[in-house]
Amino acid sequence: MITHLFLIAFLFTFDLFCETVERTKSNIDHWKQAITTPSPWLKSREQLISLLPKEAVVAEIGVLRGDFSSQILELTKPEHLFLIDCWDLCDFFEAGLSDYQLVVSKFDNNPKVSIIKNTSSEAAKNFPDNYFDWVYIDANHSYDAVKNDLETWFPKVKNGGFISGHDYFVPGTPGTPNYYSYLVVPAVNEFVAKYNLEITYLTNEPIASYAIQIRK
Ligand SMILES: C[S@@+](CC[C@H](N)C(=O)[O-])C[C@H]1O[C@@H](n2cnc3c(N)ncnc32)[C@H](O)[C@@H]1O
Repeated sequence: MITHLFLIAFLFTFDLFCETVERTKSNIDHWKQAITTPSPWLKSREQLISLLPKEAVVAEIGVLRGDFSSQILELTKPEHLFLIDCWDLCDFFEAGLSDYQLVVSKFDNNPKVSIIKNTSSEAAKNFPDNYFDWVYIDANHSYDAVKNDLETWFPKVKNGGFISGHDYFVPGTPGTPNYYSYLVVPAVNEFVAKYNLEITYLTNEPIASYAIQIRK
C-alpha cells in the first residue's frame, strides 16, 4: 500500500516537473525572435542610465548590496533615489540581513537616498501616481514577478519617464546562464505590446538592460 502511494506521488511530481519544463521551454521558444534591436545599441547599463533623466526622482527595485545604486548616484545625480528591496523579509535566495546592513552603512547618511525594506508591491502603495522620472526594476525575475513589477510601477512613472530594468535575456543563449526561471523577456515584450510602447534603449550585452519610455 505504502509503495503504491509512493509510486503515485512520484509519478504525479514527475509529471508536474515535465509539464513545467515544457511550458518554460515553449515560452522561451515563443519569444526567442522577439528581441528587437532598438537604436541605439548601448555597451553597458551604466551607459544606458546615463541617457535617462538627470537630477530626477528615481527608484531602484531590487538593490541587494547597493552596487548598482552607487552607479545610479554617481552617473545620474538623482534629486532623490529610493532603494527598495525586501532583503531578509523575503525568502529570496540571494539577499539577506547582512546585505541590508551593508546598504544602510553605504547610504544612510546621504540625504538624497531613502532605503525602503519592503516588497516591491507593498512599497509602491506609498507613492502617488506619476511620481517617478524613472525606475530600474531588478528584483525577482520570474515571469509573474516581472509582469507584476511592470504593472505596479507603470502608474507611478510620469508620462515621458522611463521604466528600465535588468536581465533582458533568453536563458541559455550564448553568454547567458541557464536560469530558465528568468523570464524577463516575455514579460517585458508583453508589457510593451499591451501599452503600445517600445523598448527605447537596449544594451548590447548578453545579460542586457532595457529602458522603455512611458507614454500614457
Ligand atoms: C539581482 S538582485 C539586485 C541587484 C542590484 N540591482 C544590482 O544590480 O546590484 C535582486 C534583489 O531583488 C530583491 N527582491 C526579490 N524579490 C523582491 C520583491 N518582491 N520585492 C522587493 N525586492 C525583491 C532581492 O532581495 C535581491 O536583493
